[in-house]
Amino acid sequence: MKIAVLVSGGGTNLQAIIDGIDNGSITNTEICLVFSNNPNAYALERAKKAGIKAVAKSPKEFASRDDFNAALLQILEEAAPDLVVLAGCLVVIPKAVVDAFPNRIINIHPSLIPAFCGTGYYGLKVHEKVLERGVRVSGATVHFVDSGTDTGPIILQKPVMIQPSDTPEVLQKRIMEQAEWKILPLAIDLIANNRVTVANGKVIIEDYDKLSY
Ligand code: GRF
Repeated sequence: MKIAVLVSGGGTNLQAIIDGIDNGSITNTEICLVFSNNPNAYALERAKKAGIKAVAKSPKEFASRDDFNAALLQILEEAAPDLVVLAGCLVVIPKAVVDAFPNRIINIHPSLIPAFCGTGYYGLKVHEKVLERGVRVSGATVHFVDSGTDTGPIILQKPVMIQPSDTPEVLQKRIMEQAEWKILPLAIDLIANNRVTVANGKVIIEDYDKLSY
């Protein structure tokens, strides 16, 4: 399975995918492209170090957002991935891209959807709101991307307990380490091995009860 990974920042989720392919925990998968809307994203360095084709196009390089969106669609159509992975991607995915890859785009979100998600909930902001609300548990979610924001069918989730001493930064790091970097590679491996289907907006995973994560 060919995957294109879209990134905007540090790329630790991309690194988890690269490492998963290298150590065999992700099978039948190759990364054919890493794309970033942020030319300064360290994720691009990670791709280059791993010998993966890396492309960066900032929306600022284009006359309009529509032009950027058209360029993004063209780049993805040329790469022709079987799956598009949003790994810390902070650009809104245009409808034309969602339509071109129905149930073939997945996203990692740093909360237990439907809590603390949707417009404005990204990066550290998610964890700030979690601590502000005083919930006892948060975590991460991998879901298919549909035309909404963080609204597509849920594939995997993993809970992480909140500690009283948590700051947004400490919580973000623990959720990345204990949840994101585990369920995103696992979701990719499941999809690469045809164990994931979507029916009536719900995800069915073959032998789900045998999974431990
Ligand atoms: C992660 O917390 C991810 O859940 C969110 O953005 C952050 C990206 O981190 N979407 P990285 O670029 O993968 O290190």
